[in-house]
Amino acid sequence: MPQKESVKAMFNEISGKYDFLNHFLSFGIDRLWRKRLVKEMLQSKPGHVLDLATGTADLAVELHRQGGIRITGVDISENMMIVGREKIAKAGLSHTIELKYGDAENLEFPDESFDAAMIAFGVRNFEHLEQGISEMKRVIRKGGQVMILEFSHPASFPVKQLYGLYSRFIIPLMGSMLSSHPSAYRYLPETVAAFPSGNKFLHIMLQIGFKDCRRISLTGGIASIYIGTRPD
Ligand SMILES: C[S@@+](CC[C@H](N)C(=O)[O-])C[C@H]1O[C@@H](n2cnc3c(N)ncnc32)[C@H](O)[C@@H]1O
Repeated sequence: MPQKESVKAMFNEISGKYDFLNHFLSFGIDRLWRKRLVKEMLQSKPGHVLDLATGTADLAVELHRQGGIRITGVDISENMMIVGREKIAKAGLSHTIELKYGDAENLEFPDESFDAAMIAFGVRNFEHLEQGISEMKRVIRKGGQVMILEFSHPASFPVKQLYGLYSRFIIPLMGSMLSSHPSAYRYLPETVAAFPSGNKFLHIMLQIGFKDCRRISLTGGIASIYIGTRPD
């Protein structure tokens, strides 16, 4: 698993280009994936949602836009949150979305502080995956849900082959040309390949104590939303 200090330094360095490269390299599909998570989240009508590894706050802003929900975002990269806070202020949402510095693996919130928790493209960066997911469970109320959006491993032809080529060659090349941070965009395919996906990930959630665990596969399995409920 990646080291926290190097993850923090990397996101602090790429924060200015993060949004542009995200949307550019994914052809904008990352926005659709976040919208899908938001659609699921709104079904349980939560009042206050925690957005971990909030970064530039795209997921938080989308959830508020669709549901008018109060959100607290947490991240270890101040520079990512500076971009996020500007976005929030521009959208006139500073009264309902608050971004705070914090480590998802050691949250400062008391037990059962939130109705639900979500995270997009963050768990792969955790130093201790199980610790981070356990913290999500601790800070939500009983019966609340966690939703985790992350890259996964597409299994079928031709998505598997095409995405394999794209993520191994095109993303690092374009990322190094456009971000002036070559290792950051090699990091993406390397960490995705080493990260648990599909049933393996659901198994981890079950072991941590979530119930009703399920996966929504996105774009042929390039990404997935994992959902679990904290038992009563
Ligand atoms: C790929 S970005 C995702 C940002 C945002 N959620 C999105 O959908 O675009 C990953 C973020 O995770 C943050 N991060 C990594 N490890 C973290 C941790 N232990 N606690 C809080 N944030 C963390 C990084 O600083 C970075 O902003």
